[in-house]
Amino acid sequence: MQVFLNDKLVPEGEARVSVLDRGFLYGDSVFETLRAYGGVPFMLSTHLRRLARSADALGIHIPISIDELRSAVMSTLEANSLKSAYLRVMVSRGVGPPGFDPTADTTPTLVVLARELSPYPDEMYTDGVKLIVSPVRRNHPQALDPSIKSGNFLNNILAKADASRAGAYDSVMLSIEGFVAECTSSNIFFARDGVLHTPSTRVGILDGITRGTIIEQARKRNIQVQEGEYTLRALMEAEEVFITNTTMEVMPVRAVDDRTFRPGPLAKMLRDAYQALINL
Ligand code: PDD
Repeated sequence: MQVFLNDKLVPEGEARVSVLDRGFLYGDSVFETLRAYGGVPFMLSTHLRRLARSADALGIHIPISIDELRSAVMSTLEANSLKSAYLRVMVSRGVGPPGFDPTADTTPTLVVLARELSPYPDEMYTDGVKLIVSPVRRNHPQALDPSIKSGNFLNNILAKADASRAGAYDSVMLSIEGFVAECTSSNIFFARDGVLHTPSTRVGILDGITRGTIIEQARKRNIQVQEGEYTLRALMEAEEVFITNTTMEVMPVRAVDDRTFRPGPLAKMLRDAYQALINL
């Protein structure tokens, strides 16, 4: 596998990052996950814009321009002869003097990884996935704003571990105030009385790119979409629940804790709508 490291492609075995890199030491980094279809990364510019926003929010300098970043992503895909791929773009604050001070002089580290995407099994889309509600809360925006896609994902990792231990696919995470926020690496939607609901960005979530696309596609199809602050009870009263992210697109949910749901028509219809955009 070829990895893009800082300014060039190198074989994976030679792609080394210092143990003093702040990404490793403190999770002082930002990243994006993308999916390529037929050798074309989907919504590349939108992802790179979000990467730039995350980096700006933390004062991390992206060492190359957005156009160069776009070329780096494309050349990583091509060097690995990948068509259907999982891509990850990471920028850390790099190596600097010891200590937390982020204003000290550092040289950022840039990594682009690409690997073959193993598709999710069809049964997951037909049967839906099981979720639990984790006791681990999503970060409060005044602690570490979840709209920043940073390398600091530990509470989501703890919530994912809760799900694995419970034999579930993932956890629903609540905000500190107790509102439904999102899952550990996806946004959540639910439908009730013909209206599609999803937690507002005000709750403290990652403003998912798939989420945005699904809201737009639903509205184009005259489905009413509301973004709000929802209690767990509102979620449990839903008729249909699904989750979204870049790699799984739209995934139906068959259970949240003991409450079961039938994979419904909206998830199917919106996944078809999403895939129609890819095939353009
Ligand atoms: N996860 N919420 C969280 C916490 C996420 O980590 C992600 C993305 C999303 C969905 O965002 P998008 O639709 O832009 O992929 C929501 C990616 C896939 C990851 O962690 O690798």
